[in-house]
Amino acid sequence: MKASLKGKTIVLTGGGGGIGRAAAQALAKEGARIALCGGNNIEKLEKTACLVKDCGAEVFVLPGDLTDFNFLENCIEKIASHFGQIDILINNAGIALNKPFEETTQADFDRIFSINVRAPFILCQKVLPYLRKSNHAAIINIASVVGHKGYVNQAAYAASKHALIGFTKTLANEVYTQNIRVHIISPGGVYTDMVKVVRPDLKEEGMILPEEIADIILFLLQSRGNAVIDEICVHRVGKQPFDV
Ligand SMILES: NC(=O)c1ccc[n+]([C@@H]2O[C@H](COP(=O)([O-])OP(=O)(O)OC[C@H]3O[C@@H](n4cnc5c(N)ncnc54)[C@H](OP(=O)(O)O)[C@@H]3O)[C@@H](O)[C@H]2O)c1
Repeated sequence: MKASLKGKTIVLTGGGGGIGRAAAQALAKEGARIALCGGNNIEKLEKTACLVKDCGAEVFVLPGDLTDFNFLENCIEKIASHFGQIDILINNAGIALNKPFEETTQADFDRIFSINVRAPFILCQKVLPYLRKSNHAAIINIASVVGHKGYVNQAAYAASKHALIGFTKTLANEVYTQNIRVHIISPGGVYTDMVKVVRPDLKEEGMILPEEIADIILFLLQSRGNAVIDEICVHRVGKQPFDV
């Protein structure tokens, strides 16, 4: 039986585009309350907020840069005081980089790690006290197939997603006895702004749609029985199976 998300408060990063926007809409249709946490492009966040409201759901928009220490330090508390509770965190925001290993600068490395690893790490820490009070506590970290493989020209991105998966495994083991479920989704090529920039060679046809990842997010969050899914790896249709 599917668990209901009605009235659950979900913190979602990277809600301004791609997978995040599709997830916000899918969750809103299930009656969840959505906090769009972080984002530099306020117009994109507002557009998602309108789409969420069109689904009849409550939304709270908190723009901000996930590299900013002060934003990370305070955003979860602000969301909790707005909604009165937090049940679920989805760390979806991320950036990619398409550069040969030797050309990747220290600044590239630091930026990608601060958005793809440090921000989700800190947000997970900040949200746990609230999740402990919830009867539907869950965290989903959006990693990548790149977190399992070393794609050419993606050393910093691959390192960041391996790191994200690494700390998520530890976190899951530290909190599962507290009824907090921690999941990883590792998608292959999804047709979003990110992939258009880093893999311009890939055509829309055959790519995963953001809405398909949103469906997987829903599936994970609505599955609260005795069968627990740690990670879902998803590859695009033309890719060789079991070869993320
Ligand atoms: N697309 C793929 O093929 C693919 C495959 C595997 C995994 N993923 C992962 O899926 C997640 C979502 O990516 P997407 O494909 O949906 O890409 P996207 O459309 O580019 O979305 C990325 C989101 O992250 C936000 N973001 C980036 N830097 C930020 C910062 N410093 N502070 C706050 N927000 C920031 C962006 O907001 P602003 O634009 O407002 O900065 C944007 O909303 C990422 O973690 C990505 O690594 C994507």
